[in-house]
Amino acid sequence: MSLSIRLKTILDYLEPNLDLADIGCDHGYLSIEYAKNNDCKVLAIDNKKGPLESAKTNIKNSKLDNKISTNLSSGIESITQNIKQIVIAGMGGNNIVEILYKDFEKLKYVDYMVLQPNNNSFELRQFLNSKEYKIIDECLVLENDYIYEILKVVKGKQDLTYKDLYFGPIIRKNIDAYFISKYSSYMNYLETVYKSIPDNKTTKVKKETLLKEIKLLKDELKV
Ligand SMILES: C[S@@+](CC[C@H](N)C(=O)[O-])C[C@H]1O[C@@H](n2cnc3c(N)ncnc32)[C@H](O)[C@@H]1O
Repeated sequence: MSLSIRLKTILDYLEPNLDLADIGCDHGYLSIEYAKNNDCKVLAIDNKKGPLESAKTNIKNSKLDNKISTNLSSGIESITQNIKQIVIAGMGGNNIVEILYKDFEKLKYVDYMVLQPNNNSFELRQFLNSKEYKIIDECLVLENDYIYEILKVVKGKQDLTYKDLYFGPIIRKNIDAYFISKYSSYMNYLETVYKSIPDNKTTKVKKETLLKEIKLLKDELKV
């Protein structure tokens, strides 16, 4: 089995040899690759039967059932004290926030989190910041024409500015081709929306908000 670049990058962000919970494991590929190469136990969790069944089959075929157990449950509600790191990948940022918020006390024993929101990363960073979690690594990866954000997070205070929340405190310090591509196309999209809205009293606030966001993007892209 060969992992996609997104899953490979997530795997690289994991600490070695720590018990892991893979939340929303789906096919279980990440759990399998991690268990193969680390001295650890893995808990592969999904809240839907279909994906969990496919994970079970893949785990069995990889002969890793002694290291990986599966659990049909939601979010982090069933994680145990031995779990020192968790991955939540391939779902919306607001869903990740909901999962962390709902069972926040379960994070007491967790030292590392690798999070890959498909969207709403601003809201996710805002939540992490408010709960005194800090981002210690972060990057963009391209997969199937979509640029994903990956965050590695530990407990600790970090003061993030609005721009840090929007772009990512580490991502914006390492502007790369993915950054330019992601945010210039978004800026072009916002400019098209802005131009399509007629000028009148009812659209004034909306247009001003759009202009502010376009300026934020222009400043960061230095265009
Ligand atoms: C798109 S898949 C991502 C799979 C894998 N993590 C990856 O990144 O390739 C999202 C998976 O998360 C599961 N999921 C969504 N919300 C969940 C929740 N609250 N608790 C557990 N699993 C969840 C879905 O059933 C689905 O299998």
